[in-house]
Amino acid sequence: MTEAMIGAAPDVGLELRGVSLHYGGKRSWRRKAEPVRAVDGVDIVLGPGETLGIVGESGSGKSTLGRIAAGIEAPSAGSVRFRGEPYAAIGSAAWRRQRRSVQVVFQNPSQALDPRLSIAAQVREPMDAHGIDAGGGTVEAMLARVGLAGLGGRFPHQLSGGQLQRAVIARALSLSPDVIVCDEAVSALDVSVQAQILNLLQDLQAEFGVAFLFISHDLGVVRHVSHRIAVMRQGQIVETGLAAEVFARPQHPYTRALIAALPAASPAARRQRDARALASLLKA
Ligand SMILES: Nc1ncnc2c1ncn2[C@@H]1O[C@H](COP(=O)(O)OP(=O)(O)OP(=O)(O)O)[C@@H](O)[C@H]1O
Ligand SMILES: [Mg+2]
Repeated sequence: MTEAMIGAAPDVGLELRGVSLHYGGKRSWRRKAEPVRAVDGVDIVLGPGETLGIVGESGSGKSTLGRIAAGIEAPSAGSVRFRGEPYAAIGSAAWRRQRRSVQVVFQNPSQALDPRLSIAAQVREPMDAHGIDAGGGTVEAMLARVGLAGLGGRFPHQLSGGQLQRAVIARALSLSPDVIVCDEAVSALDVSVQAQILNLLQDLQAEFGVAFLFISHDLGVVRHVSHRIAVMRQGQIVETGLAAEVFARPQHPYTRALIAALPAASPAARRQRDARALASLLKA
């Protein structure tokens, strides 16, 4: 995974070029409302087996970008390609095949699961829908792999938040995707549970080679899992690079401010970092 990949045009990964999505702008009784430029001219490439972290403050367009990358929403401009193929029209048969390869895991697992179905049934469901053989203990093996051995018979209300998110991950993985878009996937969990789920995602990546578009407002979390990072602000990517580089030498004042807002190890370290960030903001 190298920085050079950002500009590459691999026919293997997920590639967004010049992607925009503007909402609104409809005429009201008084005047034409300004459109919200939720995503505004974004280029990203996600290579096989890599994790690209997307960070930025609330409203910066992260989730909108994630929905476009997953093919849930079509951009108003620009192109999305997966393995060199443009995304098909939403709802078409080709689109359903592509959606199988690019799965999503959202913040709230209890909303993603059906309260009336057992966990095993919900892991099996997408496999049945795509005509994948779910027999021979496949579902049980998948549940065991995510740490839910023997819990397939339970219903969502009988699992903890962390266990529910494991079930959602198992369901996404059951389709052998190449990419999983994780939108605030651990944000609703306790810190200790967050760490367990992040470790699980990293283990699954090592085992299955799945790539993650890892969206989070939490820089600490993103730093932990990402190979590369893209920093979003007002729908645009203001900085991108290898995760360690971005954290060690942030180039954009906005990135410096985000890093300065991270809880520091000690008050002295935090003061020092705040002072540096302030100085760099003043210089900018
Ligand atoms: N369906 C929609 N219709 C109109 N505006 C929208 C829609 N979805 C998002 N927006 C607007 O687009 C902008 C980006 O929203 P988005 O949810 O992508 O941000 P985000 O970075 O994910 O924020 P958060 O960290 O709070 O989840 C916001 O101004 C939001 O209000
Ligand atoms: Mg969001």
